[in-house]
Amino acid sequence: MTEPRRIVLMGPPGGGKGTQSKRLEEKHGWRQLSTGDMLRKAVAEGSPLGQQVKATMDAGQLVSDDLIMAVIGEAIGHPDCAKGFILDGIPRTLAQAQALDGLLAGKACPLDAVIEVRVPDEVLVGRITGRFSCATCGAGYHDMFQKPKVEGVCDSCGGTEFSRRKDDTEETVKGRLKVYHDQTSPLLDVYQKQGLLAVVDGTQSIDDVTADLERALGV
Ligand code: AP5
Repeated sequence: MTEPRRIVLMGPPGGGKGTQSKRLEEKHGWRQLSTGDMLRKAVAEGSPLGQQVKATMDAGQLVSDDLIMAVIGEAIGHPDCAKGFILDGIPRTLAQAQALDGLLAGKACPLDAVIEVRVPDEVLVGRITGRFSCATCGAGYHDMFQKPKVEGVCDSCGGTEFSRRKDDTEETVKGRLKVYHDQTSPLLDVYQKQGLLAVVDGTQSIDDVTADLERALGV
């Protein structure tokens, strides 16, 4: 059995964090904790949190550090994280990284790996604008790189309805990339200095990226 791990996957919007976290979760049992997915669920349900964050997310800006830390604190405390977890989409600011360290120190379970999935900006716009997902089960696809085996039918659940994210337009993606470079990528240096950071080439095929991630994690 794979040991419990506490991993951060970092990388730009469209870098493949979600795709890879799901694969690692399926193979190794580490729970994928995607802050983007959690917030989108809240928006879809129309909850008070969802109503608070909808406009910010649609504009491709970051929601407040306090809100996001409350969301992730609750998720990490859940029993289904006992086998470990992969943080996908958090931390995104220095304040979040510091708050996360405090949260995990309080549970005596510090991070044991941070992996940057590195992809240059020019590849990302095409990846994001071609992305869609199953409206029933959320399985992710791409117009070119990851089509359903049977056109119009979800491989995972057989659903036939698909959707695209509101923040996946070319203009919003450019704004999200700027936010990533201004506020999130400086954290890579912080984790490098802590000796936690490994880098994986995210421009390879999806299978090859998974293999490199597993190598970096020693599994
Ligand atoms: P979030 O959902 O986290 O979006 P993101 O970081 O912009 O990342 P994406 O989900 O767009 O990309 P990904 O890296 O997961 O790529 P994917 O695997 O899908 O956040 C959304 C919003 O929520 C934020 O803008 C903010 O408002 C808010 N938010 C979330 N967390 C927050 C936080 N901590 N603080 C504040 N606000 C927060 O891949 C993309 C596509 O490429 C897919 O179609 C896939 O099939 C394809 N693909 C993947 N890998 C490959 C490959 N190797 N080759 C070819 N195609 C590939």
